[in-house]
Amino acid sequence: MQVFTRIIRVRNEEVEREIKLLREVALALRNGEVVAFPTETVYGLGANATNSEAVKKIFELKNRPSDNPLIVHVSSKEEIGKCAVVSNEVEETIINTLMPGPITVILRKKEVISPLVTAGLDTVGIRVPYNTIAQKLIELSGVPVCAPSANISGKPSATDSQTVIEEFSGRIPFIIDGGRTHIGIESTVVMVKEEERRFSVLILRPGFVTKEDIEEAINTRRFSKPVEINYSEEFSVDTPLSPGQKYRHYSPVSHVVIVKNIKNIEPIVKELRNGKIGILGRPKFLKEVRRFLEYINVKNILEIEWCKYDLIDCARNLFFAYRMFDRENAVLILVENLEESGIGYSIMNRVKKSATYIV
Ligand code: TXA
Ligand code: MG
Repeated sequence: MQVFTRIIRVRNEEVEREIKLLREVALALRNGEVVAFPTETVYGLGANATNSEAVKKIFELKNRPSDNPLIVHVSSKEEIGKCAVVSNEVEETIINTLMPGPITVILRKKEVISPLVTAGLDTVGIRVPYNTIAQKLIELSGVPVCAPSANISGKPSATDSQTVIEEFSGRIPFIIDGGRTHIGIESTVVMVKEEERRFSVLILRPGFVTKEDIEEAINTRRFSKPVEINYSEEFSVDTPLSPGQKYRHYSPVSHVVIVKNIKNIEPIVKELRNGKIGILGRPKFLKEVRRFLEYINVKNILEIEWCKYDLIDCARNLFFAYRMFDRENAVLILVENLEESGIGYSIMNRVKKSATYIV
């Protein structure tokens, strides 16, 4: 069914000026409509998490497998207790030190949250975004808001309104355009397990909040038992702890190739040389790859500079660049292999999941 979509342009500094419009969107959200809005990480496709009919629409709109649970967003830390139970001192510390912000904590779910949100699990991912538009919208709606990234399942997350419009215009009543998102990759997802002799913090999805940031937060106080922090991917588990981990992700239409050694790209590029070849990297990488492509007679090249300053820029630009390559019909994207420390670890986690080859 075709719906008329209103696109509402708001900037973070102007939230109070646009309060009447936001109130209208919040009311629709409360009453069971799905609306798209910016957060500091990526755009979200939000619905009232207490209303199963509304939640169902999200899975249909995104074509999302129903066993992949959604994150519930609340407007402040004080609201968390309405949706979930904080069970121990480590969860409490992570919440107090790192929220609001780009982190999601898996907690024990309360009854009010629709079972569709959590795909039947007894836990729920909770996040308090710091983006002012998101905070105000959720606050005005008066309900917890479940929101996955605002993209068709499997595609790169939406970090600008144009992408959301391309995928959801005519399908939902409101899209809030808040410009490009600051962080550009999704929140860090963590789960705390209390064991007999220790607390174990598992990073289920790395994000802008790094392992080092979590360590620092943990070190702000003393606990009754030692606290260990690990990436869940380092453990082999038959059933993934975070159901989202088992699906192919973040993939543009173009094939992504991670380049460790430039000399190895020749066979792949030769096969596709008639199409447009994309390059995503820092200036030195761009220059070296371009020189090599020209040497093997590739003419149709599209370069995107991944960052001007540091890895924070790389995070911000990754999905935005993937979407640009797709709009330009690149057949291949040659991506620089970044150092996997700090935020670089989280960025490369996304790139690897989207990649067809590593050479
Ligand atoms: O930054 C973000 O987190 C964005 C913005 C919109 O807030 N949202 C987002 O949602 O990335 P989504 O649905 O694309 O990713 C949610 C991730 C999935 O990997 C899912 O499996 C995991 O969180 N997750 C959600 N609830 C969970 C639970 N109860 N237990 C384990 N993993 C869970
Ligand atoms: Mg997603």
